Amino acid sequence: MSKKKLIAGNWKMNGSLEANDALVRALAAGTKDVACDVVVCVPAPYLAQVQMLKSGSRLELGAQDVSVHSNGAYTGEVSAAMLREFGVRYAIVGHSERRQYHGETDALVAEKARTALAHGVTPIVCVGETLAEREAGQTGEVVKRQMAAVIHVNGHCISEIVVAYEPVWAIGTGQTASPEQAQQVHALLRQQLAAATAHAERVHLLYGGSMNAANAASLLAQPDIDGGLVGGASLKAPDFLQIIAAASASAPAAGRTN
Ligand code: 13P
Repeated sequence: MSKKKLIAGNWKMNGSLEANDALVRALAAGTKDVACDVVVCVPAPYLAQVQMLKSGSRLELGAQDVSVHSNGAYTGEVSAAMLREFGVRYAIVGHSERRQYHGETDALVAEKARTALAHGVTPIVCVGETLAEREAGQTGEVVKRQMAAVIHVNGHCISEIVVAYEPVWAIGTGQTASPEQAQQVHALLRQQLAAATAHAERVHLLYGGSMNAANAASLLAQPDIDGGLVGGASLKAPDFLQIIAAASASAPAAGRTN
């Protein structure tokens, strides 16, 4: 089946009206003819600005989180319906920074994915092990536990999510998982999805963690790596455009056509 690669930028808590203007204009101009899908996940206050800036381009808009609640007395939260009003198509859920600094549990992440799907927002569900867990040989167990919670809650909708494997030790450290290390975990996740849905091949499995212009092509060449979730390098237009070009150029995996 056909599946384009998907490259998502996670700006995290970065940006300004001025910087966003320059970045999004450069990305819009540089992605006119690309053969992959491109998303920018921006801080909530900038959604309206980026929605306007990206209009007429191939860029899609994403959020970095979504409330598990649909509406009501939840001070500080942003609902999926609000995101939809600003043209948001994707929302990152369960990023390791939210799991670590905001106490998000597997169960909450799974419920957030459900709320997003219910409102027509595609959740980009993040999973990944810490360095201590990898060193203890627990990588497979940890990512499968995180994924199992999402599968359990989302049942037959599971093929509509996007998954990002982001080893915590690779985030913002400049230390990337090797293509083989990443592929190994992606294959595990694909297998786990295949046990839950007949459409596991449809699910985009992204790699995230120090992806950059130099290492993107070799990661994206792996059979189960369907794109990237890019932090630091997504803030610089030339770097992000090079990653997009690598995704655009990378041949579809065996058994798939583009
Ligand atoms: P870096 O690309 O900066 O390592 O961040 C990865 C990430 O956390 C994307 O969500």
